[in-house]
This record gives sequence, structure tokens and C-alpha cells, in this order.
Amino acid sequence: KSFLRNGGILLEDLIASSNGKCNPIRNFSAEELITATNNFHSSHSILTCCIYKGYLDDRPIIVKKFKSLTRGEDEVRSHAIRDIVIATQMSNHKNVLKLLGCCLEFPVPALVHEYAANGPLNDHEFLPWKIRLRIAKELAHALTYLHTALSRPVIHRDIGSHSIFLDQDFVPKFSNFSISITIPPHQSHASDGRKYTSVYSDPEYMESGSVTEKSDVYSFGVLLLNFITGKKDESDVWSRKYQTLVRYVKDHVVNKRGTKIVDPNILREGGGDGQAQQVEAFLTLALACTRNKGNERPDMIDVAKELRRIEKSI
Ligand SMILES: *[C@@H]1O[C@H](CO)[C@@H](O)[C@H](O)[C@H]1NC(C)=O
Repeated sequence: KSFLRNGGILLEDLIASSNGKCNPIRNFSAEELITATNNFHSSHSILTCCIYKGYLDDRPIIVKKFKSLTRGEDEVRSHAIRDIVIATQMSNHKNVLKLLGCCLEFPVPALVHEYAANGPLNDHEFLPWKIRLRIAKELAHALTYLHTALSRPVIHRDIGSHSIFLDQDFVPKFSNFSISITIPPHQSHASDGRKYTSVYSDPEYMESGSVTEKSDVYSFGVLLLNFITGKKDESDVWSRKYQTLVRYVKDHVVNKRGTKIVDPNILREGGGDGQAQQVEAFLTLALACTRNKGNERPDMIDVAKELRRIEKSI
């Protein structure tokens, strides 16, 4: 029953959004995934919820299996299916966690991904500056692709260090497209009547409930601020005074204390003038991305270009 219901919805969404192009993904049985993850044993859990490490033919994999809460099951199901549909179209991008296939036999479909040895970006606080810069550049490229290379622009809507994984070489991989939304033809905004808010959310989206490419640009800007300040946790002392990381940084910059906000770990690297200039340009870019008005923010493609330029400047 689950197979038919899930399969029907999946096929509908896949056809609607792949625009005639075919995207083969493998279909796994429930038994295969139960064996691979030792029956979704909690010791195989990579994050607190839903994400498990498993083995298929001795090859490590990540399995996302959502709990089937009876209330809200339809919503969780449509999230999982959205994730499959967009991940399928993005899977060839090297900064997207490759989708190997899915299993439709559970009440909510499970996703099977390639493994990412360094886990969620969330877990890494002290990456060297050079690596932070490269990660930012690669993520900007993947988002440009999401906005421009599919049959319709797709807005990720949930960018943040929780939705990015790192492989064994610290190559970043976007992993969760479950609330990604497609901009309808002849329109510039998209809305599904729901607001998903986080510390990364665009203030315009929080107010209106509708997103544009610039909403992703804002969230990406907050991520850049995470990289430069080494801060993300809202429970920090600073957040009581400033509430958001964006306000904290803007206040310091306005009062000419911009250098105070730079992560001491970056300063300790002693990268000299070249690195200091990179950090400054990176901060300027992050501030442009987090402007209050969407139409004053750069496009993702320009963000990607600027990050490439900053990286090459040394
Ligand atoms: C994906 O993102 C959605 C929306 O933020 C969240 O509810 C869900 O738990 C996430 N799923 C995974 C597997 O991280």
C-alpha cells in the first residue's frame, strides 16, 4: 500500500519537475535498508534524527529515514519526495550529496545517499581559513546551479550548516532539499503557504511567506558570517544583546569595530596582509548578501564569481 501511494506521488512530482528529462534512481527494498543499517539502530545515527550510516556491499552509505508520525505524515511524505525529486536532478553536481536511490516501502520514503566521512558542517568549528573559503565558493556554485540550471529556478529555502555535509576531503555537499520550492512560470516569487523559519531566514520571507532567489542569497550570507565569525549559536551571550548574528556584525561594522568580529582562530593563522584582505572582501560580500531588501542583494552567480576572485587573490 505504501509503495503504491508513495510511488504515485513521487512519479507525479518527478515528471512535473524533470520536464521530460529522465533521471534514473535505484529502488531499494525495505529489507536491504534494514540489513544495511542494523535495523536503523541508534548507534548508526549520524545526526540526532533520521540520518543513519549503513553498509551496502561493504560500501558506506547514508540512509535518511523519517519517522512516520501519524499526524503530519502527509507533510513529512511530501518533504521526503521533494528531497528525492530535487536531489535526483542535482545529483551530478559535485557539491550535492549524491542520491543513490530510495525505498518506497516505508510509510514515508527513505533516501539512500553516498557517504560523507566528515559528517555535517555543523560539527566543524575550527576549519582553516583556506578551507572555509573553498567551501563557501563551492557551495555558491551549487546554489547558482540550483537557481539557474534546472528547468525552472529552484529555491533551497533551508540553507545552513545543518543541511551541508563534508566528505573525506572536506568537499561540501548539500543534503536536504525537502522544502525546496520551484518558481512557477512567469513569476518571480514562490509560496506554498508555509513559513519555515530559522536563524538563516530572509526577513522579507519571514514577513511575506514568499521566496525568491534572493532569499537563498540572504541565508547564504548568514552562512558566510558563520565562517568569518566562527559563531552560529543563538544561545551565545552576544545574541542576547543583538538577537541575530547579522545585527551583531552590522553593529560592529558601523561602529568601525569590524575586525573585532573575526574568528580569533583565523587571526591566529597569521596569514598576513593577503589573508586580511581576503577576510575583508569576504565580510563585504556577506554584508551585501544580508541586506534587508532582496533586490539590493547580489545574484547567486555574482556571489560565486566574487568568492572565486577572493580565493584567487592570493
Ligand atoms: C530537512 O529539512 C527539513 C526542513 O528544515 C527538516 O524538517 C528535516 O528534518 C530535515 N531532514 C533531514 C534528514 O535532515
